[in-house]
Amino acid sequence: MPRTADQLIATLRRIDGRGYKAYRDVEGRYSLDELQLSVDHVQGDPFATPSRVRVMVPLARAGFPRELREGATRERAFCDLLTRRMHAACGGVSTRAGTGKSGLIDIDRPGQEVLERTSVNVTPDAIEARVMVGLPAAGRRILADKAEDMLLKRLPSAARAALLADGSTPAEMDAHLRAVEDQVRIRSDLRERGLVAFVGDGSVLPRRSGIDPRPMEAGAVRFESPHDLRMTFQLSGGRAVGGMGIPEGVTLIVGGGYHGKSTLLSALELGVYDHVPGDGRELVVTMDDAVKIRAEDGRSVAGVDISPFIGDLPFGGDTSSFSTQNASGSTSQAANIIEALECGASVLLIDEDTSATNFMIRDRRMQELVSKAGEPITPFIDKVRQMYDELGVSTIIVVGGAGDYFDVADTVVRMDAYLPADVTGQAREIAGRHPSERSFEGGAAFGTPTSRVPDAASLEPARGRRQERVDAKSLDTILFGRTTIDLSSVEQLVTVSQTRAIGDAILLLRRHMDGALTLPELLDAVGRELDSRGLDALSRHKLGGYARPRRHEIAAALNRLRTLRVTQRR
Ligand SMILES: Nc1ncnc2c1ncn2[C@@H]1O[C@H](COP(=O)(O)OP(=O)(O)O)[C@@H](O)[C@H]1O
Ligand SMILES: [Mg+2]
Repeated sequence: MPRTADQLIATLRRIDGRGYKAYRDVEGRYSLDELQLSVDHVQGDPFATPSRVRVMVPLARAGFPRELREGATRERAFCDLLTRRMHAACGGVSTRAGTGKSGLIDIDRPGQEVLERTSVNVTPDAIEARVMVGLPAAGRRILADKAEDMLLKRLPSAARAALLADGSTPAEMDAHLRAVEDQVRIRSDLRERGLVAFVGDGSVLPRRSGIDPRPMEAGAVRFESPHDLRMTFQLSGGRAVGGMGIPEGVTLIVGGGYHGKSTLLSALELGVYDHVPGDGRELVVTMDDAVKIRAEDGRSVAGVDISPFIGDLPFGGDTSSFSTQNASGSTSQAANIIEALECGASVLLIDEDTSATNFMIRDRRMQELVSKAGEPITPFIDKVRQMYDELGVSTIIVVGGAGDYFDVADTVVRMDAYLPADVTGQAREIAGRHPSERSFEGGAAFGTPTSRVPDAASLEPARGRRQERVDAKSLDTILFGRTTIDLSSVEQLVTVSQTRAIGDAILLLRRHMDGALTLPELLDAVGRELDSRGLDALSRHKLGGYARPRRHEIAAALNRLRTLRVTQRR
């Protein structure tokens, strides 16, 4: 039985002025008029991670039409919008009320992407918001009056403002749901239309700054599709949108420096996610298994067969099961590709800005000076077609410098002052007039894809007294037991809430590891578990700080765990 507001007040009066630990007595469930409050975990002191509190509103009372949350896509968009509303409402009621985090009321904040998250959930009969509350103290002494005000007035009023439908809700909600549904629909139509990505006309691709993912304001040139690549997608409500379809195969994005090539590629990288209306990229849609590939020297690699790209290394290093604690530019880029293929990527996205030059190209002159026998690297240019023809994996590459790539491209898009032109015909004609005279080094076939079986014993999550201690320190750092995982080159992660989920997903993967299941099979198993049980499968507690990562980013983190050991299965 939930307790009453009066019982909460009585508890608070009793512990007023006592040491902070006495706040533990507040844990439990309360019924506050139409709301329910559940104080799940009280922080250890005023400076620690804030206390975990859930607020529940009965669905019947919240008053949102049922169709707004029917089906997985709508439910995700619905919960996302309520999280945003709750975040805004918390901003209005959160105050500094003492030491440390005293007075804080907050909820996990979504960015530009609409992800499945645990901050707001729909249960069979309620909407549940998971908030962080800094229970107030002076020094370490409990401030009961202030706690009463937070738990009985300010938090409920934020919840009512955010989670109850009112007159203005339907239009806002409708726009949000439609935007997400349109993106999901376009993405699911890409394959049958022979595309790997779509960029809608009118999109605003550049961001406000390198650290601010909101759209550029003044001076942004809106996207306009080139005639030959233009196509139309139907949207909800009978509308339609024109834009550039990027076909399967090998696509080059060329153009002068500073003409918007990398900006277009970045938008495509994040087109694996749905964006909020007003983001500028809410009609930029990429296959959801597209993986950004880059050089990443210094990373560790565990038993990856990079032999399609890298042959015999000096001093007899074996590249069919390549391990290192310190990969070079080219070996790291090769490992990144093979790992992406292992997890089932169907599109690779590559920017010359972040690639190893010797991995991308070896021109005629260099081929003559350094014979193939003395060069372990088979450049990407000689493998990219095999990847598409034999494995069905497409590539979109930004190249400003290496015209030899014209020979292997199906489509060439030139960015000119931020606007694209289809120059495929021209590029072919030029390639005909100026043959590159390279000799092909790619061999008869791409090579045999392999899967690796991770060794559970090589993952050690224990730290201190805890058997499993895994923390997301930031967007790109996980502390796994005593080992740090560096994700700073994993560019399709967008929020630390995903990083947090990845850390715990690796623990889940580890529980499935039996010495026989391969990494892709393990990712399938964890994916099914997350599909059926939701992100709550990641923890015993009802945490509000998870957002769903893709399998590719979970794998990326495991692949960068420096203690990882694997065996190969062909
Ligand atoms: N459509 C656009 N409108 C306005 N500015 C843009 C647009 N696209 C890119 N920019 C800006 O132009 C600069 C160069 O873009 P970038 O994509 O890095 O060029 P490139 O990769 O071709 O060298 C960046 O500061 C970017 O924010
Ligand atoms: Mg660039």
